[in-house]
Amino acid sequence: MTLQASRMASITTSPSMAVSEAAKAMMADGVDVVNLALGEPDFATPDNVCAAAFAAIREGRTDYAAPAGDPDLRRAIAHKLEHDNGLTYDPAGEITVGVGAKQIIFNAMMATLEPGDEVVLLAPYFVSYPAVVALLGGVVRVVECRRENGFGPLRADLEAALSERTRWVLVNTPGNPSGAVFDIEDLAMIGDVVAAHPNALVMSDEIYEKIIFDGVGFTSFGQACPGLRDRTLIVNGLSKSHCMTGWRVGYGAGPAELIGAMTKLASQSTTSTSTISQVAATEALMGDQSSVVENCKRYQARRDLLMTGLAEIPLLDAIAPEGAFYLFVDCSAMIGRRAPSGQVIANDVDAAEYLLREGRVACVPGAAYGLEPFVRFSFATSDDKLVKALGQLGDAVSKLES
Ligand SMILES: Cc1ncc(COP(=O)(O)O)c(C=O)c1O
Repeated sequence: MTLQASRMASITTSPSMAVSEAAKAMMADGVDVVNLALGEPDFATPDNVCAAAFAAIREGRTDYAAPAGDPDLRRAIAHKLEHDNGLTYDPAGEITVGVGAKQIIFNAMMATLEPGDEVVLLAPYFVSYPAVVALLGGVVRVVECRRENGFGPLRADLEAALSERTRWVLVNTPGNPSGAVFDIEDLAMIGDVVAAHPNALVMSDEIYEKIIFDGVGFTSFGQACPGLRDRTLIVNGLSKSHCMTGWRVGYGAGPAELIGAMTKLASQSTTSTSTISQVAATEALMGDQSSVVENCKRYQARRDLLMTGLAEIPLLDAIAPEGAFYLFVDCSAMIGRRAPSGQVIANDVDAAEYLLREGRVACVPGAAYGLEPFVRFSFATSDDKLVKALGQLGDAVSKLES
């Protein structure tokens, strides 16, 4: 007897969670591991946001919210989209709030995918995209975005991947795990290719919008391709920008029919995300934004610290990200080398495993994101831990024999 539906065989637990669990198990055994596997800000939620949540509890805001989200929050999201991105969305029908951006992504797919529909993913991609597609009976078409092209797609590759079966093209800028930021020309090129396929929709995951470095400006897909407005879903949330991962607030903005379908799904599944979290999210969007700017500067300093340190480690070839808080490091020089145990590193899964066992640093192999051979280090952790990790990585890598 099985307790699971057959569709469950199409997915696994998130690989970054799996690595993190392995790291935690080592820590429980007394091993001092630096965990650079998880993508979660280590800064606290801003005080004004927490204060708004306390006030909401005291005022009895402990009821269900509307399935599309608390109206105040939807108005705040509309304001944010207008103010930051120059996009106009009607809070009464074109915006829906979810239990994190993840639920928005899931509900959008659930509301639109027929079995066999194709979804184009740009590799390296966020691990949940292919899992959701597979769970819903969709077919993933991967466009490899090579390092030489700044982890962006080539027009010819994109054109070859889209067909009359394409339902979605997923765009993620700044990207997890690459940290690549697509400029207006990159986005316009993607939009141009999509425009030729009238059934194709674009999901633009902009959750790392506020973590962007070196003065690089952020462009929303909606800004770059206004002509595709009726086929575009903007996905965003508070998890990364306002250090609110556990509050579970994300949102989608798009055409009313799609937003209505996603809201209907929410009404029959989660009803709404926590009302208290929504009051907090409204304050996060409308209140003082100085911590968002401050945190971004801190991430940039950490990126630089890691880049400088990794430059001294010969077999790890780091690429400076323009945004998000990950370093997607080329580990091809580790492949084929022999560990002290005698094991030969065959791929990036072995490399990440070696760095965990020998270096006591947890990272996620590129295989999880559809592009090899890389390892992803998160720098959403303290300078001290990053310095420690660099020392341990250097030692571990120096023990590899050619
Ligand atoms: C690209 C991307 N999209 C969405 C999410 C999920 O965000 P949320 O916490 O809002 O569900 C993440 C989280 O790691 C992410 O990296």
